[in-house]
Amino acid sequence: MSETTGSFSIGDHKVDMPVKTGSIGPSVVDIGKLYAQTGMFTFDPGFTSTASCESQITYIDGDEGVLLYRGYPIEQLAEHGDYLESCYLLLYGELPTPTQKVDFEHRITRHTMVHEQMARFFQGFRRDAHPMAVMVASVGALSAFYHDSTDISDTGQRMVASMRLIAKMPTLAAMAYKYNIGQPFVYPKNSLDYASNFLHMCYAVPCEEYKVNPIFARALDRIFILHADHEQNASTSTVRLAGSSGANPFACIAAGVACLWGPAHGGANEAALKMLEEIGRAENIPKYIARAKDKNDPFRLMGFGHRVYKNYDPRAKIMQRTCHEVLNELGKKDDPLLEVAKELEKIALSDEYFVEKKLYPNIDFYSGITLKAMGFPTSMFTVLFAVARTAGWIAQWKEMIEDPGQKIGRPRQLYTGAPLRDYIAPDKR
Ligand code: CMC
Repeated sequence: MSETTGSFSIGDHKVDMPVKTGSIGPSVVDIGKLYAQTGMFTFDPGFTSTASCESQITYIDGDEGVLLYRGYPIEQLAEHGDYLESCYLLLYGELPTPTQKVDFEHRITRHTMVHEQMARFFQGFRRDAHPMAVMVASVGALSAFYHDSTDISDTGQRMVASMRLIAKMPTLAAMAYKYNIGQPFVYPKNSLDYASNFLHMCYAVPCEEYKVNPIFARALDRIFILHADHEQNASTSTVRLAGSSGANPFACIAAGVACLWGPAHGGANEAALKMLEEIGRAENIPKYIARAKDKNDPFRLMGFGHRVYKNYDPRAKIMQRTCHEVLNELGKKDDPLLEVAKELEKIALSDEYFVEKKLYPNIDFYSGITLKAMGFPTSMFTVLFAVARTAGWIAQWKEMIEDPGQKIGRPRQLYTGAPLRDYIAPDKR
C-alpha cells in the first residue's frame, strides 16, 4: 500500500487527509481524522462511496466484470479448482500444495459431524419452519456446543472454529432440509468429497442406496466456488461488524446468515426463480419488462442489477454454463424456464432502460433454475448460498481479528429527530 496526502476544502476548513492506494482498484481517502479536524462526519447511507476496511482477500472490478479471490480470476478457479481449494485459498492466502490440499480436505472431512444433541435441538422447530430460520438458530447454537473454539484471542481456536464452520454448515443445511420434509437425518460420509457429501446428506434415505450424480456434484461444487466470497457485501459486512465487538465466530456467522436471508441479497435466487415461473411464457415478458421500468410499480427484475457490477456479473456466465450442463444431464435441453430466462435476458440486454442503468444478469439469474433442476426446493436456495459463503465470511472475520489496528465498528449518524425538549406529563399531552 502506498500513501500520499490530499487537501480538501469543506466550508471554511482546509483539511489534509491521507490518500491510500492499494494493489489494484480505486484509492481511498482516509477520513479517520475528519471529525477531529472539522467537527463533521461523512454521510453515505448504503456505503456507496465507503471502503469499510482494508482487505487482501477478494477484489471486484464492477465496471469490467472482474472477480478475483486472492488475485486468481473466478473463471479459472471455477474451471480448474474445487471448492475446498478455494476455501484454503481464502483462508490462508495461497493455493494449497498437493500435501496441504490432502491435509486440509482430511481436516474438514473429520469435522463434518455435529454434536448429537444438535439433533434434539432441531426437534424444537416446527416442521414447516423456513430452513433459513433453522440455519440462523442452529449456526448460532454451535457456540453452545463447541466452547473449546470460542476464544477469539487464541490462534488455534480461531482455526478450529473456521474448520468447524466450513465442515458443519453442509451438515446443518442438510438437516434443515431433512427436518422440513420429515425424513431422518443422514450422517456425513467421509469417503465423499464436500459437494457429493452434501448431496448424499440431502437425498439419501436409510432404506436404499443413493448414488451421487457426478455432474450434479461438480455443478454444486462450482456453485459453491462462485458464492464463496464477494468482498464487503451486506452479509460479510454484518459478520465483520458483529465480530468487531469480540463476539465468537459462530455468533458472527449466524449474523451473516440472517443478513443473507433478505431478497436484495441471498434471497434473490429464490425470488428470481419465482419470477421466471410467474412469467411462465416468453410472450408474457414485455409485460414484466414494462412493470420493471414503471416507477410506480415496486416490481424489479429479480436476478438483474448489482450494487458493484455495472457489467455482466462474471459469475453469471459460469452459472449459465453450469445450468446447461445440469439440464443436459437431465435430458431437459428445452426446459421452459430456461427458455423464458434466455429470452428475458436477451430482451433486457437490448432494452434502453436496462442498458442505460447498466443492469445485467447477476449470479442469481441462473442459479435458481439449476438448483431446482437438481431437486432443491426454493426455500433451500439461500441455504446453499450460506453454506458456500461461510468460507468468505470466516476468512474475512479472521482477517479482521488478526488486524492489529482493528476497532469496534461504530458508525455515526445524521440526526434529524426532535431537538432537546422537556418531558410532558401524561395528562398534558
Ligand atoms: N429491475 C428494474 N430496475 C432496477 C433493478 C431491477 N432488477 N435494479 C436496479 N434498478 C433500477 C432502480 O430502480 C434504480 O433506478 P433509478 O435510478 O431510476 O431510481 C437504478 O436501477 C439503480 O438501482 P438501485 O436500487 O439504486 O441500485 P442498488 O445498487 O442500490 O441495488 C440491487 C442493487 C442488487 C439491490 C438491485 O439491482 C436489485 O434490487 N436487483 C434485484 C435483486 C437481485 O437480483 N439481487 C441480487 C444481487 S446479486 C447477489 C448478491 O451478491 O447478493
